[in-house]
Amino acid sequence: MEEEEGGEDYLFKIVVIGDSAVGKSNLLSRFARDEFDHNSKATIGVEFQTQVLELDGKEVKAQVWDTAGQERFRAVTSAYYRGAVGALVVYDITRITTFESIKRWLDELNTHCDTAVAKMLVGNKSDLEHIRQVSVEEAKTLAEEEGLFFIETSALDSTNVNKSFEIVIREIY
Ligand code: GTP
Ligand code: MG
Repeated sequence: MEEEEGGEDYLFKIVVIGDSAVGKSNLLSRFARDEFDHNSKATIGVEFQTQVLELDGKEVKAQVWDTAGQERFRAVTSAYYRGAVGALVVYDITRITTFESIKRWLDELNTHCDTAVAKMLVGNKSDLEHIRQVSVEEAKTLAEEEGLFFIETSALDSTNVNKSFEIVIREIY
């Protein structure tokens, strides 16, 4: 955790990870700016956004980091994870391969971060129920095995987006 100028009481770094096109950047833009982009391009390198929340009368600043799911566009991994206290590990409920990658993302997270990092398994694109490939049950099972929180979100229709970040932030703080 770092100090910055500004009056907030707490600053937390949260990383968002998962395969390409699961919706990481749109989860972040929905959370930080209430925006969604139907034609968003793959992220290259690293971006971050900050969002101030009020929790129990305290100002909490979440600094949320987003990187490329595609290996060739990723920046230096150790720098990305440094200082993170929370993580959203995201898959797309309509693509089973992105769910099968979760263990790999958790391995990377665990290699670079303290075990105390608050982790949330996020099944994004819940608005696409008609083409779902990953059931809620199998995701819950994985979350239990791995000691993660679990939630399904839609960056498109906003379902549970703020909640997913808030649960992680509450767990940290
Ligand atoms: P990388 O930057 O390549 O790692 O991808 P990303 O995980 O950041 O994915 P991104 O946010 O760019 O979204 C990929 C595509 O999925 C875009 O076309 C988005 O519009 C779409 N998308 C993101 N979230 C949702 C969602 O909740 N529902 C639906 N239907 N589409 C979504
Ligand atoms: Mg992206």
